[in-house]
Amino acid sequence: MHKEVFQLFSKKEGAQHIASEYALMAIEKIVKQNNIHSVFEFGIGIGTIPYLLSTLNKRITYYGTEENEFCNSVLAENLGQSIESINYNAISSYLNFNGENKFDFIIIDGLFDDANFLKKIAHDNTLIFVEGDRENQREFLRKTFPKCLINRSISLNKNSKHSPYYDVSSNHFVGGYTLFRLNPNFRNKTSWFLEKIATSLKYKLRMII
Ligand SMILES: C[S@@+](CC[C@H](N)C(=O)[O-])C[C@H]1O[C@@H](n2cnc3c(N)ncnc32)[C@H](O)[C@@H]1O
Repeated sequence: MHKEVFQLFSKKEGAQHIASEYALMAIEKIVKQNNIHSVFEFGIGIGTIPYLLSTLNKRITYYGTEENEFCNSVLAENLGQSIESINYNAISSYLNFNGENKFDFIIIDGLFDDANFLKKIAHDNTLIFVEGDRENQREFLRKTFPKCLINRSISLNKNSKHSPYYDVSSNHFVGGYTLFRLNPNFRNKTSWFLEKIATSLKYKLRMII
């Protein structure tokens, strides 16, 4: 579904800031393949990710933060009735979150650097996804969870003509993401190892394509 969701949201106002198709593909795969029933997203934007989650046919509790007036004004329309298939909660700031919930999957796609809050909402098996480059936040996560397994993932595709980012980066590779696995168990270590190899091969391939 990630392709259809990307195409749908690419045509909407505010699309220049939505998650890349590659990131949406990874989010779909991660949610389907792992025991994920709760998601916290920093930076809902125009709603691409909760919409994608609502198509996955899984029981999911979703919390997202969004402070921008324009984004908040279009969310209800962009999400429509689809959102009724997940337990959707939007708040203007993480400071307004007063639940005791811990989340299986945390997506960072907005400004955020509060280590105590992150530790409060993460559990031992949480997966944390950082969309795009966000070098400062990657460094912040590395320091906050020093034992976690980290995979940077990159795409070999370039932005297409239909991409909302085409004008500014037409000859650039599609944005990647970084996945932080908090539990260094055997299963996670195996995935970490395989993904490390895939990324290093992709860096080499990028030099010849
Ligand atoms: C890159 S966009 C998110 C795109 C969105 N995930 C999508 O795929 O449609 C980042 C969003 O985070 C919001 N944001 C940034 N910092 C924030 C903060 N501290 N609290 C709440 N929202 C924030 C911005 O208003 C912006 O809409």
